[in-house]
Amino acid sequence: MKPNLFLTRKLPQPAMDRIHELFDAEVNPYDRVLTKKEVLEGIKGKDALLCLLTDPIDKEIISVEPNLKVISNYAVGYNNIDVPEATALGIPVCYTPGVLTETTADLAWALILAVARKIVPSDLYTRQHQFKGWGPELFLGNDVHGKTLGIVGMGRIGMATARRAAGFNMKVLYTKRREAVDDKELPGAEKVELQDLLIRADFVSIHIPFNPETKHLVGERELRLMKSSSYLINTARGPIVDEDALVKALEQKTIAGAGLDVYENEPEIHPGLIALDNVVLLPHTGSATLETRGQMGIMAAENAHAVVVGKKPHAIINPQTLKQ
Ligand code: GLV
Ligand code: GLV
Repeated sequence: MKPNLFLTRKLPQPAMDRIHELFDAEVNPYDRVLTKKEVLEGIKGKDALLCLLTDPIDKEIISVEPNLKVISNYAVGYNNIDVPEATALGIPVCYTPGVLTETTADLAWALILAVARKIVPSDLYTRQHQFKGWGPELFLGNDVHGKTLGIVGMGRIGMATARRAAGFNMKVLYTKRREAVDDKELPGAEKVELQDLLIRADFVSIHIPFNPETKHLVGERELRLMKSSSYLINTARGPIVDEDALVKALEQKTIAGAGLDVYENEPEIHPGLIALDNVVLLPHTGSATLETRGQMGIMAAENAHAVVVGKKPHAIINPQTLKQ
């Protein structure tokens, strides 16, 4: 008999195939985020919970099913889960690092290029038949090549984003707190303090996890350090940036623009951002490719299954909960 699993939302087909191979799965029948009540109901009697970054997994949910053996998040970020609570109850929490690294770095670059070269308003202008001929000052943007890229958080995704800068002949500055990634593979890159990075970089790209320590890491003071010609790129988590302060900086043009994939109160977007034309706004699609969303689901399913059958999962946040 297969173990059983509750999946909070239908995933791309390759992921669903693997889930059904490994589990007797109950799947959210709707194309929407479940309510807390629905999640509480769904977990009852299950061995495993496979959840998404849009599901807040709090104390009550974690403790509702005494036989719950694993919580497997379909994301590399896990700020949606009360991990200390799961750990206290001895429940392993798994996540999906690695498989989405390159895909998310691609999107960070899509934002860098889009905002610097005014791709979105140019497309709209062209589509609306406003293009009446070549013009010497039509949609003047800024160069990307030869500039300085500042990577806030040289983890896996930060490194993958930085590596792409070589093709654009850019100088790379970075901050890094833990020794997770070998940065020797990036010759010429310079490790600096955040303040120095903000002062010097032309593009500041955020690649750190969100937790109480990184909340509003980039606020009014930090934005003021940036050059008026610089751009802020965020593909990590919204609350790392103080959105009110960002809107002010953009309105007052103390920075040149922003490329955002994530928001402080997702899916709500600050009305000030919507009104601005020097920002590119994406609906949290950093890992959204056919290939990667499938890989993430396979990994999340295999993580959950490994824990349930007493094997080592691909990636776990609280390994101290694994039975020896
Ligand atoms: C996406 O934001 C993720 O954390 O995987
Ligand atoms: C996430 O994969 C990271 O950048 O550490």
